[in-house]
Amino acid sequence: MGSLVQILLALLISVLGALYLLGSFRRRRAGEPPLDKGPIPWLGHVLEFRKDTAKFLQRMKEKHGDIFTVQLGGFYFTFITDPLSFGSVVKEARAKLDFSKFAEQLVARVFGYSSMESEHKVLQATSTKHLMGDGLVVMTQAMMSNLQNLMLHSIGSGNEKTWQEAGLFSYSYNIVFRAGYLALFGNESVKGTESSEKAKQIDREESEELFGEFRKYDQLFPNLAYGVLGPGEKMEAERLKKLFWNTLSVQKMRSKENISGWVHEQQQLRADKGMHEFMQDRFMFLLLWASQGNTGPAAFWLLLYLMKHPEAMTAVKKEVEKILQENGQEAKPNGPLIDLTRDMLLKTPVLDSAVEETLRLTAAPVLTRAVLQDMSISMSNGQDYKIREGDRVAIFPYIAVHVDPEVHPDPFTFKYDRFLNPDGSKKTDFYKGGKKLKYYTMPWGAGTTMCPGRFFAVNELKQFVFLMLSYFDFDLKNPNEEIPDIDIRRWGFGSMQPTRDIQFRYRLKF
Ligand code: HEM
Repeated sequence: MGSLVQILLALLISVLGALYLLGSFRRRRAGEPPLDKGPIPWLGHVLEFRKDTAKFLQRMKEKHGDIFTVQLGGFYFTFITDPLSFGSVVKEARAKLDFSKFAEQLVARVFGYSSMESEHKVLQATSTKHLMGDGLVVMTQAMMSNLQNLMLHSIGSGNEKTWQEAGLFSYSYNIVFRAGYLALFGNESVKGTESSEKAKQIDREESEELFGEFRKYDQLFPNLAYGVLGPGEKMEAERLKKLFWNTLSVQKMRSKENISGWVHEQQQLRADKGMHEFMQDRFMFLLLWASQGNTGPAAFWLLLYLMKHPEAMTAVKKEVEKILQENGQEAKPNGPLIDLTRDMLLKTPVLDSAVEETLRLTAAPVLTRAVLQDMSISMSNGQDYKIREGDRVAIFPYIAVHVDPEVHPDPFTFKYDRFLNPDGSKKTDFYKGGKKLKYYTMPWGAGTTMCPGRFFAVNELKQFVFLMLSYFDFDLKNPNEEIPDIDIRRWGFGSMQPTRDIQFRYRLKF
């Protein structure tokens, strides 16, 4: 009997604890002092937040306006939904609003990686050097040759001139992941194989296998990040982590060719700082995740929107043909393969607009900062809000700006030329309340943590589309099939994924 009482007591305590941890919601008023941890929160709000973050935050924005506070996982999160006020978060000094605390906890849980001192500085410096400017020229070339290997290796053999059927999501994610992985983490060494053809074949096979495993981890990711995996899933996540640490290990890397400066330098700098090799291996998985988890899903949405909007497809095709012609290139039987350089990809305003529109609709990160000292946030309407040390500040640009009809009219419709001026130049003038917005889309985040791979990512997407349009005939199996919904479990994690795949058919033109 005593033990039954103990069990009931334990149950009661854990339920109360869970309620407390799950959190609550409160409206903020200007000048209001920071919130005290109050009584047991109202569970309904929090379950709603976890179930469909976007829907919940949209509802709260409509009800409470530009700023409100949610208690979640033991922290108070103050959400800012007025894009005119984003600057006060994004530009705030790190001494007050810091991202690294939050990021470090997440990468420790999800990737088993313990961050080193100056982690972020090193990441930013190597990324600026190797993923932008001249570094981007090299990366674009590497991406090109790997895309050619994966997409065009059977060209001219006649084998692939027949129609193939596949899921568009699986296909796009697969190709873009594998080519990006090979471009960054290197190729099979030709020296160690019989020929360059053999080395390329090994690249195709190994990257295919790696993608299969990556997708398993990818599917576990949202629950892993929230720390709510079931016991079986936990074991599977552990198995996958070890597999990636091993496959991407520093030791295995030593036998590779063409490892990107981005990966090589990050590894070297960590080795120089005395980081254990096993921890460097873990970091490699983090780099794989950051670089490959978003671009493949974005490639899917981009191709799908183009296929569902013939006027967009026609405009992009016209631009692709023009660029190739201007550079004396043509996709033709037995001709040299198309070779897109970084400079060619700088002259594609129509495709750029289509990419930006795709990301507006399907990239939905949450930006989170830890509050390091008591401070105030100044809103664009002149009001100040006190924020307490230890709390969190968050921005969810998807609801705050991406789908705000005042900023982007008819926000759920794909308009390939939304980011084009009538004269064909890039449009950057978007308004809210009559004021020009600096932050009118934020698929890459903003401020110090803004995605350092964004230029490379856009180039990857454009190279993929160029090759699809130049070398393949393709269409949807059922052209009337609706665009699938967004999988709401991934709100906040970057590129969104569809709730289901959509079948398409494709074949090489020659
Ligand atoms: C469509 C593709 C991509 C999207 C939508 C995307 C989006 C993002 C977002 C939202 C963040 C976090 C920003 C923040 O917390 O404020 C981020 C961080 C990051 N991304 Fe990307 N990304 C993409 C592709 C890439 C690629 C291709 C690479 C590398 C080759 C990359 C490397 C990184 C790294 C290293 C970070 C961490 C930056 C830091 O902590 O300072 N991303 N990305």
